[in-house]
This record gives sequence, structure tokens and C-alpha cells, in this order.
Amino acid sequence: MDQRIAPKQVPLSTLLGELAVFKEEWLKSPFSNQLRGLLLVRSVWNIDRAVVVGLGNMTPLLDYDDDENEYRRRRKQRLTQLTIFLDIVDILSTAQGGRQIKIYASDPAFERIDKAFLKKLGIKVVKEAEEHVTSSTFVYSPFCPWYVGVAAIRHSPQLYLGVSIQLIMDLHEPRQEPQYGFDMTEEQAATTEKFLQTRVMQSFPGLEHYPDSEEGMQWAEFKKLAPELVALTSQALWGAFSFYWPKSGPLPPVTTED
Ligand SMILES: C[S@@+](CC[C@H](N)C(=O)[O-])C[C@H]1O[C@@H](n2cnc3c(N)ncnc32)[C@H](O)[C@@H]1O
Repeated sequence: MDQRIAPKQVPLSTLLGELAVFKEEWLKSPFSNQLRGLLLVRSVWNIDRAVVVGLGNMTPLLDYDDDENEYRRRRKQRLTQLTIFLDIVDILSTAQGGRQIKIYASDPAFERIDKAFLKKLGIKVVKEAEEHVTSSTFVYSPFCPWYVGVAAIRHSPQLYLGVSIQLIMDLHEPRQEPQYGFDMTEEQAATTEKFLQTRVMQSFPGLEHYPDSEEGMQWAEFKKLAPELVALTSQALWGAFSFYWPKSGPLPPVTTED
């Protein structure tokens, strides 16, 4: 049955098998340990849902000049992004005594196979991620367009992981009268500013030395700086990619929209 819903001769069973292999590789890596240590520094988590935006299609379309190796690499890249997301959910659940965390995913690029695959993993695919974000949510944005992340942080999620919010601010001048969808509005700028003022930022393990600035770093230079991370994740994570969680103090009230 699985075989019939999978395009490009990649059956669902292959995706599940590959995910298991990448998970094992990830969990054996020093980055997984560092990730656990980083998240457990914060002793009070109150998270009951996790939302991933922009994960992408697990069987990405080939460009005309891609070969089978490039196709496999890109599949590994996205499966590894998913592995890391699920590892963080697991760490947060364990830190809260095994609390159940509902998991949602949203991406207009999902195809039937992605939806079937995510369903098998207990992940609910939703149209509008923003509607599912509350103050007790972990939001993960593996390179989703910036405005989707900004829409999510409007709901003050307790944990956010994605491209540096500071960098997003630096790259987009707020406009009173935005002309294009990617122009930042003043309301979006106010949302990001408020978020930054109330959050602590921590780089993802292995990306600490990546500059959080417009200048960034060339890919060749980054590969030299973090060869283990690049090889392990198949280029899944790079750049100024950071966690944000609340500064110490009382936790925000929990909202329970669904
Ligand atoms: C640059 S790709 C990243 C894909 C993959 N995570 C990666 O790193 O290769 C951005 C992804 O965001 C998705 N996207 C665009 N708008 C979105 C939205 N409103 N909600 C969720 N995902 C969205 C796109 O379909 C695409 O899969």
C-alpha cells in the first residue's frame, strides 16, 4: 500500500527507514548531547505543543541538473531537520516528566507522501500554523520565509528556533506603506522588537561562531568552520540559526486555542 502513494520510487517505508538511520546518527553525535545540555539549562519548561513551519517536501523536486546523489542529499537534509525537531520535542517532554506534546506541521509544499509520512509519526498537518501557536508552544522554522516566523512569534511562543530574529530585523527596513509581501510592516517590526526584548538568544550547537550579522559568512568558509555539522546534517542547518526563550521571571499565561 505504502508503495503506491510514494512518487519517484521512494516508498513511505524508505522515508521511515532513512529517518531511523539519521536519528541514530544524530543521537550519537556530540551536537545532540550539546543540544540536550543547552535546553536543560532552563529548568522550567511549560510546553504542550510544537509547530514546525517550512519543513518542505521530503521528496524534493529535482532541478534539471541534479543527479540522484543530490536528490538523496536534499532528502537527508529535510529528514535531518525533522529528526532535530523531534529530538527537541523529546527533550522538552522528558524535562516535563514525560508530558505529552502535540505536534503540528505546516507547509504548502507538502505532497500526499509527506502528509502520510508525518501522520505515521503522529504529526498533524495544518494549513495555518499561526493559528496553532500559543504561549506554551515550541515553534521551529527551518528556513521558512521570515514573515511566517514573525506571524508565529506574535503569539509569544515559549521556545523558537529558526533564523536569527535580530538578523531578520537588520535585513528588513520597516515601511509605513509596504509595497511587496516581503516588505516588513511597522506592526511586524514592533512584534519582533518586543520578542527580542523579552527573550534570551542561544545559537544552535555547532553554529555559535556564525556571525549574527548581515555580512554572514561564505559557504566555503562555513564548511571549514563546522565540517562535522555539515557532514552530519547534509547542510540542514547553517547560518545564524538560534533558539529564543523567555528571560527569567514569571512564565507568560498559557493560552489554549485550537
Ligand atoms: C527555503 S524552503 C526550506 C525548505 C527546507 N526546510 C530546507 O531547508 O530545505 C522554505 C519552505 O517554506 C515553505 N513555506 C512558504 N510559505 C509558508 C507558510 N506560509 N507556512 C509554512 N511553510 C511555508 C515553502 O513551501 C518551503 O518549503
